[in-house]
Amino acid sequence: MPILTIESTCDETAAAVIADDGSVLGHCVATQEALHEQFRGVVPEVAARAHVERILPVIDNAIRESGVSRDALTHVAVADRPGLAGSLLVGLTAAKTLALAWRIPLVAVNHLHAHLYACEMSSVNSVYPCIGLVVSGGHTSLYDCQGPLDLEYLGGTIDDAAGEAFDKVAAMLQLGFPGGPAVSKLAAKGDPESHRFPRSMIREDNFDFSFSGLKTAVRYAIVGPGQQDFSKVVLSDQAKADLCASFEAAVVDVLVAKCEKAIRQFSRRQLIVGGGVAANGSLRKRLQQSALEGQFELTIAPMNLCTDNAVMGAIALEKIKRGEFSSLDLDVTPGLQRGF
Ligand code: KG4
Ligand code: ZN
Repeated sequence: MPILTIESTCDETAAAVIADDGSVLGHCVATQEALHEQFRGVVPEVAARAHVERILPVIDNAIRESGVSRDALTHVAVADRPGLAGSLLVGLTAAKTLALAWRIPLVAVNHLHAHLYACEMSSVNSVYPCIGLVVSGGHTSLYDCQGPLDLEYLGGTIDDAAGEAFDKVAAMLQLGFPGGPAVSKLAAKGDPESHRFPRSMIREDNFDFSFSGLKTAVRYAIVGPGQQDFSKVVLSDQAKADLCASFEAAVVDVLVAKCEKAIRQFSRRQLIVGGGVAANGSLRKRLQQSALEGQFELTIAPMNLCTDNAVMGAIALEKIKRGEFSSLDLDVTPGLQRGF
């Protein structure tokens, strides 16, 4: 019996129809990139309003694509945490309304756990138990995962998320938004050793990350200490590529080192990686090398399920199996504190 899943945590409005065996019957994502590009980052108010415009057409498209009759939908699932409050509220309100109107149960989904579930969905054998890394625009979090819903938070960023750092470096180099794909493309043409950027917290005995010092180091390399005005800086394409490659290498070094440490410390044989930054080619390659050397299995979310989507909301099926439903007075949990 199929379920409807809804995702609106940040700047993608998405819906999917998933069969009870996890197969995807229909899905739709409306991206807001064009709206936020002029601000070089997501503007929460703009994002929330755009969700309001898009949510119903997106749900309608997903259901239509699935060929499933609305009467056949058995549950409505929605990401209720973490994310931007205004964005979350739009998805939650839509989900509650449909749950009430169609008299079906509401299932709340943790968006970060869903990013990791994208790995389970693409794997022939179950990936659990494992170490899980979520690297996205809003989060960089490491977990010890006993199962899809049983995750212990080990650590995360104490300042910027990895994707946020990509976006900010892209903004400094005027490469557009979102920055990850553009930085990654240029990095492929650059020398990762041209700048020695900091690998913050890499040797600290914990699972936390910090990317704001790296971002500042890149800024200094572009405009010098104390300067903010990037508009007057003229850099050759090669100089930009070298900066991107060195920045990317610093991010990848830290992410890989902390994953290896967690694998060792918790004696896990499997690593799973999800979130927008998991689409990064250099990170994927380095993790594959590390898995070969460390003799652990690696499952990275497939490219189409790295950035935000509602397909990974299939994790709701696991909650349904457990009988974990939410009532209609559910509120959103933006999760501004660490530990999600
Ligand atoms: O998971 P996601 O869609 O949204 C959040 O939950 O935050 O991740 C978006 C982030 C953006 O910061 C974007 O720049 C980054 O993922 N990203 C990448 C790549 N593709 C997307 N970062 C590095 N390399 C990429 N290829
Ligand atoms: Zn996400």
